[in-house]
Amino acid sequence: MKPKVFITRAIPEKGLTLIRRVCDADVWQGHLPPSRETLLARVRGVDGILSLLTDKIDAAVMDAAGAQLKVISNYAVGYDNIDLAAAAARGIAVGNTPGILTDTTADFAFALLMAAARRVVEGERFVRAGKWQTWEPMQLLGTDIHGATLGIIGFGRIGKAMARRATGFGMRILYLQRRATADPDAAALGAVGVDWETLLRESDFVSLHTPLTPQTHHLMDARAFQLMKKSAMLINTARGGVVDPDALYSALKKGEIAFAALDVTEPEPIPADSPLLTLENVLITPHLGSASVATRDKMAVMAAENLLAGVRGEPLPNAVKRET
Ligand code: DGY
Repeated sequence: MKPKVFITRAIPEKGLTLIRRVCDADVWQGHLPPSRETLLARVRGVDGILSLLTDKIDAAVMDAAGAQLKVISNYAVGYDNIDLAAAAARGIAVGNTPGILTDTTADFAFALLMAAARRVVEGERFVRAGKWQTWEPMQLLGTDIHGATLGIIGFGRIGKAMARRATGFGMRILYLQRRATADPDAAALGAVGVDWETLLRESDFVSLHTPLTPQTHHLMDARAFQLMKKSAMLINTARGGVVDPDALYSALKKGEIAFAALDVTEPEPIPADSPLLTLENVLITPHLGSASVATRDKMAVMAAENLLAGVRGEPLPNAVKRET
């Protein structure tokens, strides 16, 4: 009998084909994620779950699946939607999709930085609103990227890829150095490790690339914004929860920082009545960091490979290691 798996959304066909060859796959076809009730019902009796970052996979879901559940394969590099302790306690392997989306996500973070600095979205709105009457010396003036200082919080794969891009633009690069010794890749990237206050005080752009954990939840709070330059811009392509949205609103409204470009929000999607949406100095995109055709295909294959290894009881090619 084929192993049974539940896939919480239609992922690219390249991954689904691999899975269907081996498994009896139930694919949720909804445009929106399955409701909690549906998720609990549809996982019953499955050997594997392929989940998205929109699905909360906690102990209740694992128990609803049953003792035969062997693997949870997340279609994302982030896995803050999965209760790793509950999975470990039940002997369930957890997989993710690291590496392959690094450059695609850094490309998008840099695109947000450039759009924020050079007022690309405001300019486009201006033209569509029929306001472009002539070339003006003072119209929609932005901030130079070359020569500016970029502060990177979260100097992992994506943070370093962001640094590589910044090098090409002649930026000064700072990264948040939490350990006593410098990151081994820092020198080659021309990045200088600094402490929290220095990074916030000296950066013209602060870009977030840290996972969401209890330690990073609302890391960017009122105090952090007060430390930043009034002209500084925040870029978030990590997780919405790393930023306190009320503190961000207040900092943008009061002019404590100049601009925020957010690809991720807390909650997601951002509610239509969020005060942030009333501000002109905010650019928000719908969590598009890894959204290129090629990368989503690679993520589908990697998530499928994790799922298939898991249902066979083999080690996952990309297993999430729980930090203890
Ligand atoms: C991830 O992989 O964690 C991104 O947020 C979506 O690709």
